[in-house]
Amino acid sequence: MNAATENRMQKRTFEGKHVVVGITGGIAAYKAAELVSQLRQRGADVHCIMTEHATKLISPITFGELSGHDVTVDMFANISHWDVQHIALARLADLFIVAPATANIIGKMACGIADDMLSTTVMATKAPVLVVPAMNTNMYENGIVQRNIRTLREVGYTVMEPEEGHLACNTSGKGRFPKTDVILSAAEKILFGKHLLQGKKIIISAGGTQENIDPVRYIGNRSSGKMGYAIARAAAMEDAEVTLVSCTTELPVPEGVTVCYVKNARDLQREMDARFDDCDVAIMAAAVSDYRTKTEATQKIKKEACDSLTIELELNPDILYGLGQKKKGQFLVGFAAETNDVIEHGKEKLQRKNLDMLVANDVSQKGAGFNVETNIASILYKDHTMEQFPIMTKEELGHVIIQKIAERL
Ligand code: PMT
Repeated sequence: MNAATENRMQKRTFEGKHVVVGITGGIAAYKAAELVSQLRQRGADVHCIMTEHATKLISPITFGELSGHDVTVDMFANISHWDVQHIALARLADLFIVAPATANIIGKMACGIADDMLSTTVMATKAPVLVVPAMNTNMYENGIVQRNIRTLREVGYTVMEPEEGHLACNTSGKGRFPKTDVILSAAEKILFGKHLLQGKKIIISAGGTQENIDPVRYIGNRSSGKMGYAIARAAAMEDAEVTLVSCTTELPVPEGVTVCYVKNARDLQREMDARFDDCDVAIMAAAVSDYRTKTEATQKIKKEACDSLTIELELNPDILYGLGQKKKGQFLVGFAAETNDVIEHGKEKLQRKNLDMLVANDVSQKGAGFNVETNIASILYKDHTMEQFPIMTKEELGHVIIQKIAERL
């Protein structure tokens, strides 16, 4: 396993990156502590700048401990080296995050006001800037704040949408600080995304279908959805418009991805078919039950009723085959979950289902296939070429798959 893979396994995805986090005086300032901690745990070299107001809500000591560096607050205090501090941090940053961003700092940045350490440093940086607004709903919806946000977007800053929910002012609405994972996804997209799939619509199926036997039992499989969700995350990072048709509700929805939940193969087929004509790329990573019960019992089957039980099954539609028959320019990707003669079976499926690309995984191998964090895959292409890949995380394989698709679109 190479160093990059190991880093991803440990989620040290920010290794080698310098991230400056600006914390302003919103009540959500304490939530920035978790953000700083996560950035550092994921390998980033994190430097914090706090506004005076922020220090009234949470101590700089917290951010100093979590980042491992002195926290800068006052422009004129503790000048410990000859380099001008705000210029040094502005230069150092690979990414600048302002979180939480109050209406005040948003206004100052939009108007070009640089009157403290944070506003001065953010103005002096050439690094991409990620702004994470968090405030009372009425303040957030105020036309001036919205105009300032538009201004920041126009000059190229990424301004996140706050979440809806309970707010510190004991009201409910839009203005909550987003979850740390959501901010980290946005940061990863800025740092690592290459806009490979800008303007492309992608539909991805994920997870395992469930075919009901009765109201409490079903025929299912071991798919967790991790592979499909990883591909969706990678596609969103490359600016695709992504819809996940998901057979699982267990996993967090990736940032920027639309999700449609389904249960059985026929639901999955209906939702994939409905979106297929309008998409550029369709990826079937779901594990689809080949059979379903011929009849579904309306009440729980009682064991007292019979000594043995025979359940009659009938064939489900082959969704991928159906998409292959009606494709008109879409790039169609299938998976093959095999336990033997992986490449031979993969080639046969690629051709029979009229695919452009097929990801074959040997699910009998340790570290590959169902419900694990890693996978071992070979990618087969329509032009009869193929590539074999070593064990890597599903996150990493998701990026490889998206990269290979982008090269061929
Ligand atoms: O979800 P994880 O726990 O992360 O596991 C990932 C995975 C092992 C499920 C994934 O990597 C994978 O291999 N998915 C495809 C599983 C599968 O159904 O393989 P298959 O060889 O039976 O089917 C071949 C292709 O046809 C697949 O793209 C499948 O989605 C599709 N299919 C299969 C049957 C059917 N009735 N309709 C289909 O569309």
